[in-house]
Amino acid sequence: MKLKLSHIVVLMLCLFTAGVQADKTDRLIKKANRYFAPLPQTMPGSENDTAERVELGRELYFDPRLSINDSQSCATCHPLGDGRGGMDSLPTSPGARGEFGDRNTPTVLNAGWQSSQFWDGRAKDLADQARQPILNPIEMGMPDEASVVNKLGAIPSYADAFSMAFPEDASPLSYDNLAGAIAAFERTLRSESRFDDFMLGNKTALTDQEQSGLALFIRHNCVRCHDGPMIGGTLLEKLGVHAEFHNTEDPGRFRVTGLEADRMVFKVASLRNVAITGPWFHDGSGKELSEVVKIMARIQLDTELKAQDANAVTAFLHALTGKDFEPTATTSQ
Ligand code: HEC
Ligand code: HEC
Repeated sequence: MKLKLSHIVVLMLCLFTAGVQADKTDRLIKKANRYFAPLPQTMPGSENDTAERVELGRELYFDPRLSINDSQSCATCHPLGDGRGGMDSLPTSPGARGEFGDRNTPTVLNAGWQSSQFWDGRAKDLADQARQPILNPIEMGMPDEASVVNKLGAIPSYADAFSMAFPEDASPLSYDNLAGAIAAFERTLRSESRFDDFMLGNKTALTDQEQSGLALFIRHNCVRCHDGPMIGGTLLEKLGVHAEFHNTEDPGRFRVTGLEADRMVFKVASLRNVAITGPWFHDGSGKELSEVVKIMARIQLDTELKAQDANAVTAFLHALTGKDFEPTATTSQ
């Protein structure tokens, strides 16, 4: 067959466009690596996590006997498995006695890579965090550390499990070790996404729309706060830089420090798995992710995002969902 000149021109144009597209994707991957990083393999502090310690932590995490009336475990509010993203999908959660807390439940997936825990960053790490819900009167409601230790001490299987998990300790069954074991289990909750593949050089890991969303996320400066391997999770920042957040009832970090400068300061949320951990914001008031994106642009960056751009950014946020949660991961490959 003879090629007509017009065919050759079209062919060359196609090759040229494909080339430009590939270059553009290469540049985007490079840029993404400047602001973010692929998820590391291990969480800080996991060096001493033995299999026994992780297993004990897993038992404790799912054990409702850690609550005052045996009704509630960590997993009640932070469910795992069966496609559930480490939080209960409620605006705020009921505790062991049915009373509601006033903050949205964050996911435990990847949590150990954040530089502090809780919406206001008041716990320094996972172990420090794990000590608190058990004794919180509107969460698991146990009266004090000694009651928890005594309750577990009366369960024969725990005496063995604690001794195996903490063989060097004179009295292995302690509140410190309980928190340490739960933290060890949580350090195994690693959730990697297609965005990690993209950053590692797989150009087709993100769709065109997700790539333009990523480019917009960088160009509009969301990365000023949401950066690093967790796309957030490391800074405490004011919520409502350019315009007030729609709910100022919870003053955020002000509750912890009492400093006026900390009013409405919250931890910059990690955006890993954000698409499956709604409703959003510390009060669970964000019902639509694209709306949350628009609010963020408006109040944090003084930018009105067009619907199309908000949708692209939202598509990018969906690409941060752990591969285990994506329907294609179970049906193909
Ligand atoms: C009644 C529901 C409930 C129970 C039970 C519960 N949590 Fe939470 N969890 C929450 C809420 C709400 C927050 C946020 C509170 C805040 O920021 O003030 C939270 C925060 C956390 C965080 C911080 C995540 C982040 O991104 O800052 C971790 C980790 C966590 N919980 C783990 C646990 C563990 C481990 C247990 C069991 C010992 C547990 N939770 C029990 C509701 C619950
Ligand atoms: C000045 C810092 C800052 C900038 C800039 C910023 N954010 Fe945020 N972002 C935060 C803070 C702080 C929170 C936690 C909000 C809360 O406590 O309710 C947050 C929360 C979020 C959430 C909700 C997370 C959840 O789990 O509920 C999304 C989604 C989000 N940001 C997206 C964006 C996008 C998209 C941009 C750019 C248009 C952006 N952010 C710009 C500080 C910032």
